[in-house]
Amino acid sequence: MVTSSSGQWWLCILVFLQILLKTEGDLVNITYVNKAVAKGAVCLDGSPPAYHFDKGFGQGKKNWLLNLEGGAWCNNVTDCIARKSNILGWGSSKLMWTQLNFTGILSNKSYFNPDFYNWNKVKIRYCDGASFTADMEAVDPDTNLYFRGARIFGVVMEELLAKGMKHAKNALLSGCSSGGLAVMFNCDRFRALLPKKTKVKCFSDAGFFLNAKDISGQPRIQEYFNQVVMTHELEKNLPPSCTSKMKAGLCFFPQNVAQNIQTPLFILNPAYDSWQVSSFLVIR
Ligand SMILES: *[C@@H]1O[C@H](CO)[C@@H](O)[C@H](O)[C@H]1NC(C)=O
Ligand SMILES: *[C@@H]1O[C@H](CO)[C@@H](O)[C@H](O)[C@H]1NC(C)=O
Ligand SMILES: *[C@@H]1O[C@H](CO)[C@@H](O)[C@H](O)[C@H]1NC(C)=O
Ligand SMILES: *[C@@H]1O[C@H](CO)[C@@H](O)[C@H](O)[C@H]1NC(C)=O
Repeated sequence: MVTSSSGQWWLCILVFLQILLKTEGDLVNITYVNKAVAKGAVCLDGSPPAYHFDKGFGQGKKNWLLNLEGGAWCNNVTDCIARKSNILGWGSSKLMWTQLNFTGILSNKSYFNPDFYNWNKVKIRYCDGASFTADMEAVDPDTNLYFRGARIFGVVMEELLAKGMKHAKNALLSGCSSGGLAVMFNCDRFRALLPKKTKVKCFSDAGFFLNAKDISGQPRIQEYFNQVVMTHELEKNLPPSCTSKMKAGLCFFPQNVAQNIQTPLFILNPAYDSWQVSSFLVIR
């Protein structure tokens, strides 16, 4: 009997925990930046960029947390064309889910997210294939690919500034994976867009990609990043402090750009980043 009643007790705790977990999510609708199309700030397929905005409240009303979505890159024209039909919308806002579940750092519950729950929270969707860095004017009529990630960043910032971000007390630019890399390339630009009195910081989560050879001795990620840089013509958009010293392909690596970022930058990276290991170091 004792075991059975203590069993029920644990069941109660489990159900309670489950209810707590179930309520973490906060479904937030998509906002398409339709006016971006006229400015050519578009996804790979020419569709408008998009973000999800959850308004801040209480003490957090004047604080802004931006999160750049991740999702690898496309490294050649064939791959970028295929990305236009990526089911997560990584190449087209036509395929993006119209609602996102805001959890973790984006959760609106103080229990799960004590530091940021009441801030204005924005998830910026990734559909350019090159970490929000490209701004290539030409569009090849054969491929119909737009390489405009840097322009997307600019237009989305313009809209958020108008929505109240220009009065921000605190502003944090965050992102994960290729979004974490995007944070490094856009951190000082973000700082420059905000008033001097705004406290601005950046947070790159799992965006520190190592320039290491794979187990067969091939510089696989170096070749891959070089192809991303060539395909999207990134040389002119990567930091001159780096491109003046080495070839542009190497300036897509955080180790060659992070030290020149002027704005406070926090880097979080697991020592054994499973994505890097399986994608670039030990390929099955
Ligand atoms: C949102 O995320 C939470 C936590 O991961 C999960 O429990 C919940 O079921 C999700 N809600 C929806 C509608 O997907
Ligand atoms: C969080 O979001 C959910 C879903 O939109 C909403 O019902 C709830 O009121 C929000 N919580 C707070 C504290 O704003
Ligand atoms: C989000 O979109 C759904 C479906 O279009 C709509 O029913 C809902 O009212 C919207 N929620 C908000 C907060 O605008
Ligand atoms: C393009 O890159 C992909 C890997 O992303 C590779 O599988 C494919 O062979 C490359 N195609 C060309 C034409 O180089």
